[in-house]
Amino acid sequence: MMSLSGKNILLGITGGIAAYKCPDLVRHLKKAGAQVRVVLTESASHFVAPMTLQAVSGNAVSKELFDPTAELSMSHIELAKWADLVLIAPATANIIAKMANGIADDLLSTICLATPAKIVIAPAMNQQMYKAAATQQNLATLESRNTLVLGPDEGFQACGDIGPGRMVEPTTIVENINNYFLANSELAGTTITVTAGPTIEELDPVRYISNYSSGKMGFAIAKAAAEMGATVNLISGPVNLTTPNNVNRINVKSAKQMYDEALVLAEKSAIFISCAAVADYRAETIAKNKIKKTDDSNELVIKLVKNPDIVASIAGLKEHRPFVVGFAAETNDVKTYALKKLTTKNLDLICANDVSDHNIGFNSDQNALTLYWQNGEQTLPLSSKQQLAKQLLQAVITRYKASHDEKKN
Ligand code: PMT
Repeated sequence: MMSLSGKNILLGITGGIAAYKCPDLVRHLKKAGAQVRVVLTESASHFVAPMTLQAVSGNAVSKELFDPTAELSMSHIELAKWADLVLIAPATANIIAKMANGIADDLLSTICLATPAKIVIAPAMNQQMYKAAATQQNLATLESRNTLVLGPDEGFQACGDIGPGRMVEPTTIVENINNYFLANSELAGTTITVTAGPTIEELDPVRYISNYSSGKMGFAIAKAAAEMGATVNLISGPVNLTTPNNVNRINVKSAKQMYDEALVLAEKSAIFISCAAVADYRAETIAKNKIKKTDDSNELVIKLVKNPDIVASIAGLKEHRPFVVGFAAETNDVKTYALKKLTTKNLDLICANDVSDHNIGFNSDQNALTLYWQNGEQTLPLSSKQQLAKQLLQAVITRYKASHDEKKN
């Protein structure tokens, strides 16, 4: 699974002939979904043009430590904080030596010192320089500080020598970065099933009962979970949204169909998040033909029967019960109703969604939630659904781990 979606990669390019491969490297990083910002050292700019890198990355290229225009928008500290990962490719003997010794005398070396992010380097230099005791010692120092060193490859060198010192190929670098994020992602190896959107309950071939759910909140949760390394199933009612990368989407229409799919997948999941706005009732019978207006009565009575409660059924599983998260969209007495659902549906956590404010909740791009669990609560203030989904998952992971620890003791 190749996905760097949502990841901010700062690519530092230093002065080696392999810098000519960097536009291709940026292209591969972007293709995998990453946001890329490039920092060039002075000598790197002799090997590759900033314009090219700006065009492929879609972002301005930074060069100067004291560039007043760059300082206004993104200083070295901001760049250092922005990055989820700093990649230096090609990494010359010089930058390796500076990093090993904590020297910060230009933008890139300063960022290396200032960043809390993982640093990955792809050394590239003459084979003799690579074998030099100083370089080997500097590399060992960096590895001991948790820097990931990729390569170098062996072979013909631009200077005519043969030996170790060629930069590893861009595709290999991207693969290694992807593996790093996968191995370190909080939800690696965890399967999460999310329900999203409305259900529709047919009345006749042309009419149905439904609600205003757009699916945006549930899709945002699925996307964030996949970016955190989870294996994600997304059971979706009819919505007009694109499936997030690396998400297994199952389309359903009715609550009954959602129930059937959810029960199968929930048993295979560690976490089940029920964000869908499921219709509580469906027509007892779906008319075979279009229901006709009659002249003799002002009323039409359609008998509704209860749909199965999906999230309560999953929370009631005796075996393979996942950690169960529900939502409660309410217009009044939000806390009271949410707490009632937490208990009656036997949930591990509930997300109270006050939908009396029409700017949040159904079909909006932003939302705000209050999470409740037994003896605890947490407010997630107004933000984009994407941002909120990440915060929600962090809270879910914390509660999920705590519930495991409680079961062990
Ligand atoms: O899709 P969006 O436009 O982005 O809007 C997001 C949302 C407002 C739909 C979402 O944030 C939300 O609040 N979802 C829950 C909607 C709701 O009305 O829930 P409820 O109070 O009817 O149900 C409580 C819980 O039981 C929910 O987790 C629901 O998924 C679940 N349920 C309900 C009925 C049923 N038959 N089966 C269920 O599993």
